[in-house]
Amino acid sequence: MRSVTSFNDSWVFSEGFNAADAGKPQTGDPVSLPHNAVELPFNYFDETSYQRAFTYQKIITWHPDFAGREVSIVFDAAMADAVVYLNGEEIVAHKDGYTPFEARLTGRLKEGDNLITVKIDGSENPEIPPFGGRIDYLTYAGIYRDVWLKLTDPVSIANIKIEPRDVLSDTKAVAVRCDLSNPQGRAIAGTVTALLRDANGEVLAEAVAETSGESVTLDMTGLKGLSLWDVDAPVLYQVDLQLRTDHGRDRLASRFGFRTAEFTVDGFRLNGRPLKIRGLNRHQAFPYVGYAMGRSAQERDAELLKHKLHCNLVRTSHYPQSKWFLDHCDRIGLLVFEEIPGWQHIGGAAWKQEAIQNVRRMIERDWNHPSIVIWGVRINESQDSHDFYVETNRLARELDPTRQTGGVRYITDSEFLEDVYTMNDFILGNEELPGSNRPRTALRPQQECTGLSRKVPYLITEFGGHMYPTKIYDQEQRQAEHVRRHLEVLNAAHGDASISGAIGWCMFDYNTHKDFGSGDRICYHGVMDMFREPKFAAFVYASQCDPSEEVVMKPVTFWARGERNIGGVLPLFVLTNCDEIELKYGSLTKRVGPDRESFPHLPHAPVVIDHRHFTKDELGVWGMKWESAEFTGFVGGKAVAHLRMAADPVPMTLEVEADSKTLRAEGRDSVRVIIRALDQVGNVLPFLNDAVDIAVDGPARLIGPGQIVFQGGSTGFWLESTGAAGNIRVIVTSSRLGTARVELSATADGVASA
Ligand code: GAL
Repeated sequence: MRSVTSFNDSWVFSEGFNAADAGKPQTGDPVSLPHNAVELPFNYFDETSYQRAFTYQKIITWHPDFAGREVSIVFDAAMADAVVYLNGEEIVAHKDGYTPFEARLTGRLKEGDNLITVKIDGSENPEIPPFGGRIDYLTYAGIYRDVWLKLTDPVSIANIKIEPRDVLSDTKAVAVRCDLSNPQGRAIAGTVTALLRDANGEVLAEAVAETSGESVTLDMTGLKGLSLWDVDAPVLYQVDLQLRTDHGRDRLASRFGFRTAEFTVDGFRLNGRPLKIRGLNRHQAFPYVGYAMGRSAQERDAELLKHKLHCNLVRTSHYPQSKWFLDHCDRIGLLVFEEIPGWQHIGGAAWKQEAIQNVRRMIERDWNHPSIVIWGVRINESQDSHDFYVETNRLARELDPTRQTGGVRYITDSEFLEDVYTMNDFILGNEELPGSNRPRTALRPQQECTGLSRKVPYLITEFGGHMYPTKIYDQEQRQAEHVRRHLEVLNAAHGDASISGAIGWCMFDYNTHKDFGSGDRICYHGVMDMFREPKFAAFVYASQCDPSEEVVMKPVTFWARGERNIGGVLPLFVLTNCDEIELKYGSLTKRVGPDRESFPHLPHAPVVIDHRHFTKDELGVWGMKWESAEFTGFVGGKAVAHLRMAADPVPMTLEVEADSKTLRAEGRDSVRVIIRALDQVGNVLPFLNDAVDIAVDGPARLIGPGQIVFQGGSTGFWLESTGAAGNIRVIVTSSRLGTARVELSATADGVASA
């Protein structure tokens, strides 16, 4: 039988690496995984600081359980160019920093202690994707995902591939392929049993097959009464495989769902139903610790995309992301565009081979995720490369004929080898280029980009971003323009049936190389900041949901007379899914509905309050008394949202909010804590650039510095469990706002005790 246990604890981490010393214990720091080799400041750092080699070591002591079994260590990922040694002998090398690999120790372990040494190399090795050119993100070094000790019998299950069939019919089927692992080359005679279970574990169907080879496919047919996986009702099933051979037994399970996903010339269809894609791109990075964030933080990002931003798709730009993230997308019904590592640059023959292997590794890891609806098989934004991309497409289709391929480009008239033409359309903003006589255009019609004489399945994979970088503390007017651009592109995507949808650049600001961003090693391209605190533009996405899901009403203003050029707050966008917004300003009351004239295609056009709604005297005259405002949102004639904005904001409340009150004691679980400076009516004070001091008491570590400053009225940090259970007290102190506390607890399972 298989056992897979965490291998994250008790590593020793040291700088540098010398192959001659791989068999000797080095002195270093005790660490747990996931681990980031070099902790970085928030911004303004030298990104070459981690671009070198590091060593991780751990003792594995012989255990009687190992006798006669396959023993290996599974790395979910390590950045990058990892080489694993056992007692000084090289076991496996894996170049890619984003996909899993296994170090097989069978037959090599001795009695007593054995030394595992892992070299990782954070330098941007031009032989490996994504390196060789410049890239607009950082690839933080370290064993930054989980590591597992895996024991199996000599013959075991290597992988499961589940292909749902007849998905839209009442009677469904599923083909389950069981790939065997038989590294000792034993003669195999055995059986494989597949059990189909529902979410409650109830067995719905069973199939049995004999096996004597590497791989066997079991068909389960005539399945009735099953539900579809959909964005609103992401029903999951599970296949349990049981293997019995003369050389032992194994069990492996995988979740999956019944759904069809198709990009057509008339847009995207999920389960045969048209669905306009509204999504955001996500990097897997966090402040200070880069990629090294465990399960909860990964899941939380998926939650934010689905339930705060109300997106229906995420693109894992520009590489395969954590399985915790993808598993959660399956669970909550968030579609995924996943792609191979790379950014603009294509390397030589060996580099391309590595990229082709990345297609294989990505698909073989992730083919059972119902959330994934398309494979990105080009290097993001690279030039055409005929033979290379013929091969990546061929391989993707061979491995997984159920999903379409895409390949993200920004060049027009690019060779169309994929199933979906996936385009980064950065046309909006081009009208500002000197000499441009282009009118302001949100998106180009697809054939202007594809250059093809016919329409093809077409998806906008990026827009915005560097065309209009915007900080959470930028002037209101700039943020309003940021909002307007996201609105215009989403409106255009909704208005063109041949566009499957649009995926904005991007979910949150991210650390980057000096060659990009604002010089401080940050690209301020997010609709959220690095702490995942929303900018106004976040509400462009959020407000597109149905009010029954969440009522959204976000006026794009700090409500001040003199924040904008010339003064006033007009035009005032209110990002909302309400039918009408009532604004009370002093003695004036105005009720305004959504601006469907300017944004006819959006599910929920914003309310735009502007000079049409006021006389000159009514608002905006410099020198008049500035008054507080009250906003009320109406749905079906009923008041459903209310917001006050003070004309005279003063600091009143230090708000400290943890995403969860509990975290798992083990496994470096983490929780985000957001701190906000609020005025007397509960609004953020955007220009209170005060410092706050953070003190943490109990079994948790503060990630990042103990003193931080507000940026746009908020700031945040992550807390990480240190292994023990117990109460954690966080005390935040500000000179203007006093002290606020939150109590959390670290428990064995991350769940609060009753
Ligand atoms: C694109 C690129 C992204 C990001 C973005 C900024 O060209 O694919 O990774 O750099 O620009 O807008």
